Amino acid sequence: MSEDNLIIAPSVLACDFSKLGNEIEAVAEAGADWIHLDVMDGHFVPNITFGPAIIQSVRNRTDKIFDCHLMIEPCDPFLAAFADAGCDIITVHAEATKHLDRSLQAIHELGKKAGVSINPSTPVNVLENVLDRLDLILLMSVNPGFGGQKFIHSVIDKTRAIKQMIGGRPIDIEIDGGITPETAPLVVAAGANALVAGSAIFRGSSKKAYSGNIQAIRSAVNEVD
Ligand code: DX5
Ligand code: ZN
Repeated sequence: MSEDNLIIAPSVLACDFSKLGNEIEAVAEAGADWIHLDVMDGHFVPNITFGPAIIQSVRNRTDKIFDCHLMIEPCDPFLAAFADAGCDIITVHAEATKHLDRSLQAIHELGKKAGVSINPSTPVNVLENVLDRLDLILLMSVNPGFGGQKFIHSVIDKTRAIKQMIGGRPIDIEIDGGITPETAPLVVAAGANALVAGSAIFRGSSKKAYSGNIQAIRSAVNEVD
């Protein structure tokens, strides 16, 4: 894939939260395509991050797409709040909603793009019957909850299976967890077109460092046929 078509979505989970707005602005100017926002509830995942009020407070710092990854259970009661906060893509976990089809319809009714994420242990066939409601599939390549974990290689076969399953549908395939210049080409070769990266991008703590980190991932991917 050409590096121009690759979507890079830095996860703010790895940034300095004491200056969240500045960090988002810096990474946007450093070449990010989307801003990935990891929302955790301490119930679906063993960690807590932030909610819609925080997202709303930084919405005016960039006009990049806000790619919101909800790791919360239940999700349905909070979808409107995240839409109102300015999220453009709202992704829910298949494991965190009893009525996935209903959750996806609700996101579209709010005028937002709808995504589904699945954990490393969840089979891809849970997505089979909702494909026509999807704008994005987010495959976890770590168990959700923390940044800086080791990439789980079984996501490569899952990416290939999903790519085949979606056929000609215009669905983004995004991979999240342990993405580095070493692992990025593996998932892009398998069919992914969007990559989330936290620790690999926010190291160095400056716009210049972020730009180099993003470019390192793009260049590595550029070598994939
Ligand atoms: C994990 C989050 C990821 C995380 C990725 O639950 O969904 O977005 O921030 O962090 P790295 O890139 O450090 O693995
Ligand atoms: Zn995420």
